[in-house]
Amino acid sequence: MTTTLTNHSIETREHAGVPSATPSNVWWRRHLLDLEGVQTWEIEQVLERAQQMQRLRMEPTFLLQGRVVANVFLEPSTRTRLSFDLAAQRLGAHVLTMSAAESSVAKGESLLETLLTLEALGARIIVLRQSEDAAPDGLVGQLTTASLINAGDGCRGHPTQALLDMFTIRERLGRLAGVRVTIVGDIRHSRVAHSNACGLAAMGAQVVLCGPDDLLPEDGAWCGARTTSHLESALDGADVVMVLRLQEERHHETVNRASFAEKYQITAERLRLARPGALVMHPGPVLVGVEIAAEVAYSPQSAIRDQVRNGVPVRMALLALIANT
Ligand code: CP
Repeated sequence: MTTTLTNHSIETREHAGVPSATPSNVWWRRHLLDLEGVQTWEIEQVLERAQQMQRLRMEPTFLLQGRVVANVFLEPSTRTRLSFDLAAQRLGAHVLTMSAAESSVAKGESLLETLLTLEALGARIIVLRQSEDAAPDGLVGQLTTASLINAGDGCRGHPTQALLDMFTIRERLGRLAGVRVTIVGDIRHSRVAHSNACGLAAMGAQVVLCGPDDLLPEDGAWCGARTTSHLESALDGADVVMVLRLQEERHHETVNRASFAEKYQITAERLRLARPGALVMHPGPVLVGVEIAAEVAYSPQSAIRDQVRNGVPVRMALLALIANT
C-alpha cells in the first residue's frame, strides 16, 4: 500500500518511524519540503552543522561515501544545482545529475516514475526542482527508501535557499533574532520569499514583504509577515534588504519591467532609507538594472556572493543530517 502525503506538515516523527524514546532535539526528518512548520531548533541544527562544514573548507569528507545523491532539475538553475553537486561531491557521494531536456521526462515520463527509477538505481537522497507548487508533497509517500529535498517547487518553497540566506545574515550581522528583513519585489511568485518568511519568523526575525499590490500575498498569510506596497516605509529601519526579480516564468500576464523598476528598483538613494550599512541580498538570478541597480549589486553592502558561497556548506549540512551521518 502506498501513502500519499498531501501536506508536508503530515511528515511527523511517527510517520518517519522515530522511536518514541528518541530525544526531541535529534534530527528525524527524512524529507525537507518546506520551512513552514519546521522548528527553530531544527533550523539551528542545520546552521550549526553548516558552520562545521564551512570550517572544513576544501577538505574532502566521506560522510556520504558510497551513497548516491540524485540532483533532478526539471527547471533551469545555476546556483542551487551547482552547489548541491559540489556539496554532495565534497561529502564523498556518488552524484547523478539530470535535467528535463536530457531525460525521459522529455518523452512524457511522469515525475513519480522518474523518482521511482532513481530510487531503484540506489539514490539515497533525491534533490528535486520542478515547477508545480507542492508537487513533492504528494510523492514522498511513494518512496520507500529515498529522501527528498525540495530545491524549489513553483511559487511554494525553496527551503535550502532560505537556510543559506539565514546562515549569511547570521554570519554578517551575528544574529537573526530581532533583525528586520525587508523583502522587495515579486513576492507572490517567490518561493524564496515564502520560505524566508517562515524560516526567519521561526528564528525571531521581523519580516516585511514589499512589492506592487498585485504581486503581494495577503497581509500576515505567510507565517505572519507584514505586507506593504509602500517601498519607503518598508525600507525604513531595515537591517537587511532582500531583493527579488520578477518571476516572469510564473506570470500569467506580462508585467512592465520598466514601470516595476521605476517604483521598486533598489538604488543607492533608496537604500539610504534602510539602516546605515544594511545588508543587501538577492537569491538570484539577478537582473542588474531591473530590480537592483549595479551600484547596489556590486557595493560592499552586497552579500550576494556570500549567499552563493554559503550554499555549499549549508547544503552539505542538510545532506549529512538527512542521511543521518
Ligand atoms: N536562488 C536560486 O534558486 O538560483 P538558481 O535558480 O540559479 O538555482
